[in-house]
Amino acid sequence: MSYLLIKNAAQLATPEGHSASCGEEMSHLRVIADAAVLIEGEKILFVATTDEVEDYVIKNLPADSKITRYDASGKTVLPGFVDSHTHFVFGGYREHEFNLRLQGAGYMEIMKAGGGIAYSIAETSAASEDELYELAWQRLQRMLELGITTVEGKTGYGEDTETEDKMLRVMERLDQDHPIDIVKTYMGAHAVPLNYHGGASSYVDYLIAEGLPMAAGRAEFCDIFCEKDVFELEDSERLLLAAREQGFKLKLHADEIVQLGGAALAAKMEATSADHLLKSADADLLAMRDAGTVATLLPCTAFSLKEDYARGRFMIDNGLAVALASDLNPGSCYTQSVPLIIALATIYMGLSIEETITALTLNGAAALDLADSIGSIEAGKQADLILMDAPNYRHLSYHFAMNLLDTVVKKGIILN
Ligand code: NIG
Ligand code: FE
Repeated sequence: MSYLLIKNAAQLATPEGHSASCGEEMSHLRVIADAAVLIEGEKILFVATTDEVEDYVIKNLPADSKITRYDASGKTVLPGFVDSHTHFVFGGYREHEFNLRLQGAGYMEIMKAGGGIAYSIAETSAASEDELYELAWQRLQRMLELGITTVEGKTGYGEDTETEDKMLRVMERLDQDHPIDIVKTYMGAHAVPLNYHGGASSYVDYLIAEGLPMAAGRAEFCDIFCEKDVFELEDSERLLLAAREQGFKLKLHADEIVQLGGAALAAKMEATSADHLLKSADADLLAMRDAGTVATLLPCTAFSLKEDYARGRFMIDNGLAVALASDLNPGSCYTQSVPLIIALATIYMGLSIEETITALTLNGAAALDLADSIGSIEAGKQADLILMDAPNYRHLSYHFAMNLLDTVVKKGIILN
């Protein structure tokens, strides 16, 4: 067995645990000065000060063990970021629409006029599988440069099962070929295709009959854009029930544009996460807490739509588990910027830097039902770590909107 020993780090900071951190727990980080991490193969073996880890090596590893030592002097070690909500596979761009929105056009207004998601659906249908793969690869590279080591990706730019299958194949291939781990979500219910006869309800029938069986066993999650004039509560519940029966875990885009009650539906369905939550009612958020549904907040989307941020402070103060993610997509939020997420969360949403780090790591993992294997630096977890060019973790909010990434360690391998 070969070992990697990251040593002499100025600081290591990590949440701890194998499930989501809720409420006040989110501010608890384990912080070690002059830290080291011993990695065996793909997994973390021991985490402590450099002296303690060197001592552990002498006492516990066979004398002839092959150990690569990596000097992390001056760096802060964190768990790799988990971006638990993206739409990173798509064809075409919507910069025209972005600029229209800056001039005052509404997101739903553009969508109802046949632009928005429908435009991306047309472009994604027209692109070949290899073209989508190449574009998505470039987007993953940007994520890696920011320290994202696991990403969730959604289908949803196909107006038929064939295109959705193509999007899923692209993610399956990238999961094999690219170092970032990819968690796949089937989101056939993203928009009702423009020329679809019968409206949302009959489109949901089609998704239940054809889309879900195509994606079952391939995508871990099923997600839906639960929104007024898109998929409303009754159709959303019908699709999610069918998805659960076919073995999917559940996610919802909930209460993004108006307060429809998507958060309450997420709680009722015991969804793994409900995302956006810009307009959710207090009682619906508390129901999510009681159901153990992670609240995934996407501040870059609110920023790009010029909407008020989700009430992260209220959620944490009331015991919810909050995750932060990018929502990278061609329309409402074309960025994978973790530094911007951190700046918005700490400066505008009232989260502390400790809560923000937990939201981007352990709780992001929990939003993907992966908190038992990633999201923190602890013995037994997968060795996904990032070394930041910072003397301590507080610089992540203080040196705001800057990419402080120095080095990524993915499954025990130094990538750069
Ligand atoms: O999370 N609102 C629905 N889905 C995405 C936007 C997708 C798009 O505009 O292409 C979102 O905001
Ligand atoms: Fe989204």
